[in-house]
Amino acid sequence: MPDAPSQPLIEIIDLTKVYTMGTVEVHALRGVSLTIQPGEYVAIVGASGSGKSTLMNMIGLLDQPTGGIYRVRGTESQKLGKKALADLRNREIGFVFQRFNLLARATAMRQVELPLFYAGISAGKSKQMAKDALTKVGLGERTHHRPEELSGGQQQRVAIARAIVNQPSLLLADEPTGALDTHTGEEILTLFENLHSQGLTLVVVTHDPDVAGRAHRVITMRDGLIVEDAAQIPSQAAASPPIPVSVASASQPLAPTAARPQIVLETLDGAAA
Ligand SMILES: Nc1ncnc2c1ncn2[C@@H]1O[C@H](COP(=O)(O)OP(=O)(O)OP(=O)(O)O)[C@@H](O)[C@H]1O
Ligand SMILES: [Mg+2]
Repeated sequence: MPDAPSQPLIEIIDLTKVYTMGTVEVHALRGVSLTIQPGEYVAIVGASGSGKSTLMNMIGLLDQPTGGIYRVRGTESQKLGKKALADLRNREIGFVFQRFNLLARATAMRQVELPLFYAGISAGKSKQMAKDALTKVGLGERTHHRPEELSGGQQQRVAIARAIVNQPSLLLADEPTGALDTHTGEEILTLFENLHSQGLTLVVVTHDPDVAGRAHRVITMRDGLIVEDAAQIPSQAAASPPIPVSVASASQPLAPTAARPQIVLETLDGAAA
């Protein structure tokens, strides 16, 4: 028997976003509807200015829409206060940006510990969780390096470790390979595939057809609207040696955080379709 349909992770209904600049209104989103199920791997593509980052900011609860409905696991975001919104974001969502957005002087370990500090997790536990996340992205040996002592790809992997350390359900990445060469970008995509196969839901904004080709679903935006939404068979990774991503081997499983309804990554090996 087929599984019962699960609750959507993301449900967006007729979302609009208008930026007002003086007397000028920019209609960045004109009525976007979108449902994303747990475990999906989605790429969002479209011309510059079509609203991709605006949509990502809405999905990531970084900004409020002008109109429409946005639900995360059934919770309507517009009905939440600031604190509840921040809690929901911290619990469910991790971000990766094109420019890594790391702190210039902090070690990899510190960068990854920081969100745990904000989540009120004890120092001892944070250290272990940060170490585990860095091991997971293949940087278990680079925990004391600062950004300037890491390659671009390694910096992006630190940013990914920071994004997943809280064990979010959803990883949002806006042009995650945009600042990397092709080979290094491939490493990041391989890492994404590993995380996806462990149950993480991924939404990736990209201009690069090769990056979009690795997703299982491609959403195309134009002028603030979704104009195409298609499932696809993801393309294979280029024949490059895999990076040493530890799944459940080297590190101990990340300690589950109390009362968190999200996926424990290590237990869902291969569960995603
Ligand atoms: N903070 C803002 N204030 C005013 N207008 C904005 C703001 N952010 C985005 N816009 C406008 O909204 C529209 C959509 O922008 P958005 O950044 O979402 O596009 P995008 O698809 O991500 O483009 P790109 O591929 O260049 O990153 C654009 O016309 C942009 O100029
Ligand atoms: Mg953008």
